[in-house]
Amino acid sequence: MEDLESLKTQIINNINLASDIKALEEIRVSVMGKKGILTEQMKGLGALPLEQKIATGKKLNVLKAEFEQALNARKEVLETAELNKKLATETIDITLPIRPETQGRIHPVSKIYEEVVAIFGQMGFEVAEGPDIEDQFHNFNALNMPPNHPARQMQDTFYLPHSATEEFDMDKSYVIRTHTSGMQIRTMENKKPPIRIIAPGRTYRSDYDATHTPMFHQVEGLVIDKTTTMAHLKGCLYDFVKAFFELDEIPVRYRPSYFPFTEPSAELDIGCLKTKTELKVGAGNDWLEILGCGMVHPNVLKAGGIDPDEYQGFAFGVGLDRLAMLKYGIPDLRTFFESDVRWLKNYGFSPLDFSSMTGGLSNNGGQTR
Ligand code: DAH
Repeated sequence: MEDLESLKTQIINNINLASDIKALEEIRVSVMGKKGILTEQMKGLGALPLEQKIATGKKLNVLKAEFEQALNARKEVLETAELNKKLATETIDITLPIRPETQGRIHPVSKIYEEVVAIFGQMGFEVAEGPDIEDQFHNFNALNMPPNHPARQMQDTFYLPHSATEEFDMDKSYVIRTHTSGMQIRTMENKKPPIRIIAPGRTYRSDYDATHTPMFHQVEGLVIDKTTTMAHLKGCLYDFVKAFFELDEIPVRYRPSYFPFTEPSAELDIGCLKTKTELKVGAGNDWLEILGCGMVHPNVLKAGGIDPDEYQGFAFGVGLDRLAMLKYGIPDLRTFFESDVRWLKNYGFSPLDFSSMTGGLSNNGGQTR
C-alpha cells in the first residue's frame, strides 16, 4: 500500500511537470496503457485473496480516477498555453485598410449601353456612330419633317449658329441632335441594303425634371431589306425586351402612335406592376411605354437614296437612360449626370463584370448594391 502511495505522488508529480502534450501522452501510456504500471497492478488483482482483492481493487480504481483528472487538468493547461503562444505570433493589424480596394465603377448608362449592344450584336446588328452636331437635313428634313412641320415642335431643339461671323439664320443653323433617328439617313447614305444597325449615342433637348435631362441617351435601330415586315419588328423587339429584362416571358402590347418617319407607327408597352413604392417589370396589370417604332416611311427611304418600291424596313428608338432607371430602380434621371462619386459607388458596376449574352447581362454578381 505504501508503494501505491509513493507511486501516486510520483506519477501526479510527473503529470504536473509534463512540458507538452506529447510528454503528457507518454506518461498516460506508461501508467494506463496496455502495459502501464496501473494496468499491470490491476492484472495482478486476480492472484490476491478475496478480501484483499476488494480492498486493493477499490484503491486502484480511485487511483485511476485521480490520474485521469490530473491528466485532463494538465492537458487543458498545456493546450491553453499553446493557443496563447500561437495567438501571440499570429497577430494582425485590423487598422490597416483593405488592399487592394477596387476603385473604379462603371456608370449605369455605360452598363446599359453594353447590355443593349450585346443583345442586338447577337442578333446580327452592327453598331453605327454619328456626330452629336447635326444638320437639319439629317435631324429633320430627311426624316419627313420639312421646315414648319408641326412634329418639329415635339422636340425642344437646341440650335447652333451655322457661322461664327454671320447673323443667326434659323434655316441654315445646325442642331445638337434631338434624337438618334438621323443615323437612319446617314446609314442609308453609306450602306446598301440589307441593313441591320443600331446607333447608340447622346441626344439633346431643352428639358429638365426628374425624368428629363438636357442631355440623354438613345439607341436607334434600323432594318431594311426587300421583305422586311412589321412581324419582323415585333419579333425582334419582343426578343430584345425579354433579353434586356432577363425574363422568360413578358407581356407586351403595340399601341398605334405617330412619328413622321414611320408609317404605321407604334409605341411598345411592357406589362408591369406599379405600387406607391416600387415598379416591377414583367407582371401585374399596368403598362409602361418603353420605345417608339414603326415601318420606315417611303419618304425617308427616298431621302436616304433607297427605292421604296424595292425595299422596306422597320425602325425603333429607345431611351437608354430610361431603361437604366427601370432596370436598376434609379428614381431620378438628373442624378445620373451630377458626377457624385457616392452615387456612382452605390449605383455603379464593377469594371470586371462584362455584359455578354453567354456570360450574363447584369446578374453576374458585379452590382454593388
Ligand atoms: N426619334 C423618336 C424620339 O426621339 C423615337 C423613335 C420613334 C425612333 C419611332 C424611331 C421610330 O426610329 O421608328 O422620340
